[in-house]
Amino acid sequence: MAEPILSVNGLSKRFKFDAGFFAPEDKYVYAVNNVSFTINPGEIYGLVGESGCGKTTTARLIVRMYRPDEGSILFTDAGGSRHELEHSEGAALKRAREQIQYVFQDPARSLNPRMTIGEVLLSGYRYASTWPGKTQATEEARVLLSAVGLNPDDMYRRPPDFSGGQRQRISIARALLMKPRLLICDEVVSALDVSIQSQILNLLLKLKDEYHLSMLFISHDLAVITYICDRVGVMYRGTIVEEAPSRTLIENPCHAYTRYLYSSIPRLGGTPAAGQSAVQDSPYRGVRFDPTQKPAQAEFAAVKELGDRHRVLDSLLL
Ligand SMILES: Nc1ncnc2c1ncn2[C@@H]1O[C@H](COP(=O)(O)OP(=O)(O)OP(=O)(O)O)[C@@H](O)[C@H]1O
Ligand SMILES: [Mg+2]
Repeated sequence: MAEPILSVNGLSKRFKFDAGFFAPEDKYVYAVNNVSFTINPGEIYGLVGESGCGKTTTARLIVRMYRPDEGSILFTDAGGSRHELEHSEGAALKRAREQIQYVFQDPARSLNPRMTIGEVLLSGYRYASTWPGKTQATEEARVLLSAVGLNPDDMYRRPPDFSGGQRQRISIARALLMKPRLLICDEVVSALDVSIQSQILNLLLKLKDEYHLSMLFISHDLAVITYICDRVGVMYRGTIVEEAPSRTLIENPCHAYTRYLYSSIPRLGGTPAAGQSAVQDSPYRGVRFDPTQKPAQAEFAAVKELGDRHRVLDSLLL
């Protein structure tokens, strides 16, 4: 099997917060606790879990917006060189990061309304090591606008002229212009109508093949995640409690938290979802975890291997 594009091992990150002058000791939010996973070439790996479980922090650690407290992030670039991103600095980090592009949830805020789409697309690219000059870059931008389902002449319009779904297409085009190997999509369809969501998901699947991408796809929505992802990690309290191929996760969710997530999905007509009754008895029912308490079991809990790339944490991690 080809080498993974990304291999994350034992990643942890806590944030100090100001508990006030009279606080007897420093207080921390334990955002990511001992997270490990790999993404293989051409694979879409999903992270799913409720708000605050550490999905975005994991992604930001990978692009080194933050430095991890512990753990390693191994990235294989287009030339086959491996980078230990947790130690990378300067020009080497910049070049590796060009190949890992991040698409955000809110395209309205990430696109400057005063720039033309052409300027938006080229603004990051012009500082990249792969910048081919303005004429060539403009041509590439036009090709990408078509590839994401827009008109090449949209280059001369501005972000407010576009709908939410179209703005997300522009964000995707801007990311692809950098010729990434790995695309990180963080809640990219969460702000969109359901019908537009599926258009964007299908566009991502098409672009994945056309541009030979691998993806880290983050969402709190299990239906979205299992639709687009090959494999999924279910996160709770900063830890992956279960990991499996999408189909396996749908058919045989094993961790009590995964089952709870499934059984909490509302169904049309009130028909109970598979295992709906489980929600009543779930140990997670009504539980709101405290992120300032480190889940003690996270480091020591055994991981059970169930075969077919299915693994589950042998602890409730409540
Ligand atoms: N820069 C930061 N400083 C302090 N605390 C932070 C910071 N970023 C995240 N946190 C905290 O870390 C925890 C994990 O946050 P994170 O944004 O990674 O969650 P998430 O799973 O992406 O949630 P959501 O689904 O709401 O986007 C939360 O308790 C959050 O408040
Ligand atoms: Mg987030």
